[in-house]
Amino acid sequence: MRNILVTGGAGFIGSHLVERLLGEGGWRVSVVDDFNDFYDPALKRRNVAPHAGREDFRLYDADIRDRAALERVFDGTKFDVIAHLAARAGVRPSLAEPVLYAETNIGGTLNLLELARAHQVGQFVFGSSSSVYGENEKVPFAEDDPVVKPISPYAATKAAGELLCYTYTHLWGLRCVALRFFTVYGARQRPDLAIHKFARLISEGKPIPVFGDGTTRRDYTYVDDIIAGARAAIDYDASAYEVFNLGESRTVSLSELIALLEKELGREAVIDRQPLQPGDVPQTFADITKARRLLGYNPQTDIAEGIRRFVEWFKDRG
Ligand SMILES: NC(=O)c1ccc[n+]([C@@H]2O[C@H](COP(=O)([O-])OP(=O)(O)OC[C@H]3O[C@@H](n4cnc5c(N)ncnc54)[C@H](O)[C@@H]3O)[C@@H](O)[C@H]2O)c1
Repeated sequence: MRNILVTGGAGFIGSHLVERLLGEGGWRVSVVDDFNDFYDPALKRRNVAPHAGREDFRLYDADIRDRAALERVFDGTKFDVIAHLAARAGVRPSLAEPVLYAETNIGGTLNLLELARAHQVGQFVFGSSSSVYGENEKVPFAEDDPVVKPISPYAATKAAGELLCYTYTHLWGLRCVALRFFTVYGARQRPDLAIHKFARLISEGKPIPVFGDGTTRRDYTYVDDIIAGARAAIDYDASAYEVFNLGESRTVSLSELIALLEKELGREAVIDRQPLQPGDVPQTFADITKARRLLGYNPQTDIAEGIRRFVEWFKDRG
């Protein structure tokens, strides 16, 4: 059995990774999550509830900012892998609370890197974000493009997390892989993210806030594809620090996205047009050549199929 610690394992992406590993077998999965109220913590409890009582699953209600609480998680368990996904996520809320974002996403990451170093953890997978590219004009975004102009506190904290991972590899040989996720969606998606929020409002017949003229573009990534990439990163031979983009390498405009949701929900959206928001980038577009080559990453779900599956989940969920 291999031991893995999944931080943020009760969240959207984390809970999918946990499910994948438990389904695979051969893993003892420990989750650290603080169940904060960034969105309804009951949803997070529900994400991990099916695993309660399993021999190969442990849940720690702990805050990654709390070093002593993390030390207790490491007591008695030698982790082979840490998949570090806990974070304050979301660009817009980070403008209101930059200190909280920095304490969690930088301070918390540093705590985990320190523990990984002290306990000689074999592999550290860091959940980073496409937001580190800022307003990069060159598309698609490649891993060696400069990421020195983040335009939100959230993006800056993710870039800082990557830099710390690099340092720990360089100084102490910690095997680190940073994954830049491009807007992830699918079952259990965070309720604050556009696809989920729009689906909820459209189905209630309420107006949806659309920032800008609908031409902003995103590379939306279906969660199963992200998990396939993350799973490959866990086993990747990271003798040198590596960063990988995980996206679909296809972009969709906001207007196209809304049209897809309207089609699957069978209702027309009422648009509440609003100005572009500070911190939001005009486009994201992943070059995934490197992930294809080194991780065998090969995304399978295009946006039309992904939205169809998302809406199926959305209509079914309790
Ligand atoms: N969803 C996306 O589109 C996306 C895109 C790029 C990067 N990411 C990154 O992927 C990771 C997972 O994102 P998600 O969408 O699943 O978000 P999420 O909010 O659903 O999951 C994050 C989890 O971390 C936990 N957490 C937050 N602060 C914590 C703390 N101090 N201590 C312990 N646990 C804490 C939360 O309770 C939550 O369960 C994050 O690092 C996020 O920045 C997500």
